[in-house]
Amino acid sequence: MTQLLRIDASARTSRSLTRSLADKFTDNWMSRRPHAGIVQRDVGRNPPPIISEDWIAAAFAKTRSTEQERLLALSDKLIAEVNEAQLIVLAAPMYNYGMPAALKAWFDQVVRIDKTFTFDLARGDTPLKPVFSGKILVLLTSWGEFGFGPGEHNEGRDNLTPHVRTASQYLGVEEFHHIGIEYQEFGDGRFEASRKRASAAVELLVERLIGKDEEDAEKSKAAA
Ligand SMILES: Cc1cc2nc3c(=O)[nH]c(=O)nc-3n(C[C@H](O)[C@H](O)[C@H](O)COP(=O)(O)O)c2cc1C
Repeated sequence: MTQLLRIDASARTSRSLTRSLADKFTDNWMSRRPHAGIVQRDVGRNPPPIISEDWIAAAFAKTRSTEQERLLALSDKLIAEVNEAQLIVLAAPMYNYGMPAALKAWFDQVVRIDKTFTFDLARGDTPLKPVFSGKILVLLTSWGEFGFGPGEHNEGRDNLTPHVRTASQYLGVEEFHHIGIEYQEFGDGRFEASRKRASAAVELLVERLIGKDEEDAEKSKAAA
């Protein structure tokens, strides 16, 4: 059965729009899959430490001292959470046109050489290869402005979704979904409409993913 990892990155613990979308997703998922496993990692509330020179040395070391093992202990735990999940639900606001620093700190802790990707120059110009595969990532966003799409006035300024999409490939993500709320800073009818659209899209996506989960279960039964 699909194991879900939920990550919240908003610094706001009340009135957070991304947290409310993630609540909607997990509530709907759990109502359809009451026995499914779910792990919650709240990096907005408890940001992982920023990596240091010593951390990098430990990550690249072939043999490690006890101190280096200790430095990587949180990274090991966070990577284990990713490894065990088939579905990752990532709730992330846009801060300064990109991801919150706490979420970047999480990515820096989990995208790790020989744990989540390997590096081999024998592969030519594409030496990096993910270790994990077949994961689905659902990115739930909110931003204050709007018009980040092609031809719109903020085109090219959304550094949140492309960054998450690219980095998550090195966590074994092969299927990516994005649902977002816009216009938060305007607080007008467009914001309310965007919020409703996002909420309805979350419901639909849960149904689609549940359907896919059922198909996969049937296929594995037939193959057994
Ligand atoms: C520190 C900070 C930086 C922000 N930067 C941007 C931004 O660059 N572009 C934007 O459209 N909205 C920006 N916003 C607005 C947030 O993306 C918006 O309030 C969103 O709803 C926050 O997510 P949350 O409701 O889950 O906390 C910023 C908000 C904060 C607090």
